Parts: sequence; structure tokens; C-alpha cells
Amino acid sequence: MSIQISTKVKKLKPSASIAAKQRVIELEAEGRKIFDFCVGEPDFSTPENIMNAGIAAMRAGDTHYTGSAGILPLRKAIASKLQRDNAVTYDPSEIVVANGAKQLIYELFSATLEPGDEVIVPAPYWVSYPDIVALGGGVPIVVSCGPEDRFKLTPAALEAAITDKTRWVIINSPSNPTGAIYSKDEWQALTEVLLLHPKVSVLTDEIYEHITYEGARNITPVAVDDRLKDRCVIVNGMSKAYAMTGWRIGFAAGPRHVMQAVTKLLGQSTTCPCSFAQTAAIEALEGSQEPVQEMLASYATRRSMTVDGLNQIAGISCVKPQGAFYAFADVRNLLGSVAPDGSKIETDLDLVNYLLEEASAATMDGTSYGSPGFLRISFAASEATISQGLEAIANAVAKLKPALVEA
Ligand SMILES: Cc1ncc(COP(=O)(O)O)c(C=O)c1O
Repeated sequence: MSIQISTKVKKLKPSASIAAKQRVIELEAEGRKIFDFCVGEPDFSTPENIMNAGIAAMRAGDTHYTGSAGILPLRKAIASKLQRDNAVTYDPSEIVVANGAKQLIYELFSATLEPGDEVIVPAPYWVSYPDIVALGGGVPIVVSCGPEDRFKLTPAALEAAITDKTRWVIINSPSNPTGAIYSKDEWQALTEVLLLHPKVSVLTDEIYEHITYEGARNITPVAVDDRLKDRCVIVNGMSKAYAMTGWRIGFAAGPRHVMQAVTKLLGQSTTCPCSFAQTAAIEALEGSQEPVQEMLASYATRRSMTVDGLNQIAGISCVKPQGAFYAFADVRNLLGSVAPDGSKIETDLDLVNYLLEEASAATMDGTSYGSPGFLRISFAASEATISQGLEAIANAVAKLKPALVEA
């Protein structure tokens, strides 16, 4: 008899963005030039000063296991960063470092959920949240937040979603995939609801914190209302701001007993994050922030190109994201249209497949983010890819015959 796979893993969907990346790799291996708008990571190299710090650490013999919560100098640097950037005070003992923000979210839910506990996941959501919640034994409760609410959870929708079983609500600001950022007033309004429900905690995923535009700023809820401190966990990391996705360094800050439980799990799973990547992360946080500003300037140009280009295509509309590097385009007006080969574009996934075939443009379907009728277009791509790819998309969309309006 062959080895059995557990029910929880059989139910698990492969990460949609990782599957899309795989498809692009396969098509490119066949010799096709693909305009890749699926990318979920900076296309820049890690800044020199950070790489040098990692290399120097390796040469100095920093190549061994570390403590499971991460090295103290890094946790101190994170505490200083939280004070400096977010105006919140955490002791290094309330901070845990792991192999990326994703691992921390996974361990946090494993450490805190009982079977059947509910976690509110506002949609559009980062593709991994519902599956990570389910793997932790919880039940993701998806709450749709449409363009009319600028894709954000309203206090009324939060209140309506809370039940006796609710343990967490996840807020991702700036958001992947919409770029939406919760303002101080919006946090205050959500806090009013949360204070009525002491059993509900907040996971705030701030991984895109430094990638914001036109003066928009990430605000962490504990800075808005200190009463949330004993039931809020901040998750953040080095991946996006410092172009360090492969170094796998993320961090969480929260109540000490929760961080201790997460550390216990880490000790029995990955032991610790990479030793020299932790030293490099200190340089990222404490060294020059100029490279971040240079990358930001480039994202800002690409954002304008992408949003303006999309809005020029009949049938597509797109608001300017306040943060992150994704445009979340409304393509509902294209659904029901007919492709040149006579096939009907019924869903956003059909449109993704059509654009891949007809325009060699790889995009992500909104359905994977809990929001059918939208496409996620990453602009962490070169300006050439953006201008040529959008032109190819415009040409492909122009070939679609509009939906027949039935009398
Ligand atoms: C919203 C969000 N949270 C977390 C992560 C994971 O980041 P890390 O590389 O630190 O695991 C991502 C990566 O795409 C993300 O988009």
C-alpha cells in the first residue's frame, strides 16, 4: 500500500501565485516570450550594503544555529524599528524572527486556534490566508469588501461577521492585491467594534509597509489605540521593502505568551532562521534607507504607467493603489464577451487564459484572491514589460466581441 496523504493536505490548494509562476516558467522553457505580470516580489537585487553584511557575517563564522526566536541584536533592531516607524513599544522578548512573514502567520494560527475557531478574512485577500487558517484547524470566514468600500473591511461588516467562535481578524495594509491602506480613522472605527468583542484578536500583516505612494502611510492599530496591544500581533518582514525575498526573514511582535508559543513551534520545526540572513537584516533595518527610496521611485513610475495604461483599455478600469506593487483591475465589463475563436469569456480565469494565449501576458485572476471579476497585475516588472505587455493586452481585448445584451 502506498503512503497515505493526510486529509488536511489533500484539501489544501497549491498557492495560486506559485502555480502561475510555474506556468510562466514552462511557457518560457517552450521558447515563448511572456509578459509576466504575476510577479509577487521586487525585481531588484538586494541592496549591496545588505549583501555585504550577509557575506561578512558568513566569513566571520556566523554559520550556525541561533536561538529559535532569532538573535537578540536583530530583535533589538526590530524593537527600534517599531518605535521609529510605527510609534509602538515592544520589548525584544515580545518579538520573534522566522523564515518569512508567511511562516509566522502559519505558526501563529497553529499556536492559537482550536478546531472550528473562526478567522475573519476580508476579500480581496492574499491568496495564502484561507489555506493557512484551515491548516491551523480554523475556519476562514471570508467577508467580501468591494470597490464601493475601496476593498476595505467596514466596521459594520466586521460586526456582522463576528460570532462566538471568532478568534482573529486578518488585516493586510497595504494590501496585496489591492494596495488599499487603512487610515487612522478607519482603524479607529474598527477598534470600536473590536473593543466590544474581547475574544477577537487582530493579525496585522504590514509586509508592504514601506511601499506606499503620494504620501500614504502605513498605520499600525496599536499606535491608534493602545488597548489593542494585548490582542494584536504585527507581522512584517524584509522581503518586499528590501528586495530580500530569498533571504527568508520575517518578524512578528505581540503578547509575550503568544510569541513564546510561536517560538516553541519554531523550535520543533525549523529550529531558527538562517544565521547570516539575520545579520544582513540588521543592516537592512539600520543601514542606509536610500536603496529603498530608489526602488520606491521606480515603483511609482511603473504604477502610473500600469494604471494609466489599463484605464485606456475599453472594458477595464482600475483605481490607483495607495501601496504595494499591484494594480487590481475591474474587468467585469469584459465578462460574457466572445473571443475570436468563438469561445466565451465567462470568468476572470477565462480572461487570464485568453490573455496568456492571445497576448502572451500572464496575469492573476481575482477569484484566487476571493474577488471574481478582477485581475491582479503586478508592476514589479520592467518598464519595457509594462508598456509592451499592456499594448499586447489592449490588442487582445480589442479583439473580443462584446457580450450580447439579451432582450
Ligand atoms: C500580504 C503578504 N503577506 C505575507 C507575504 C509573505 O512574505 P514573506 O516573504 O516574508 O514570507 C506575502 C508575500 O507575497 C504577502 O503578499
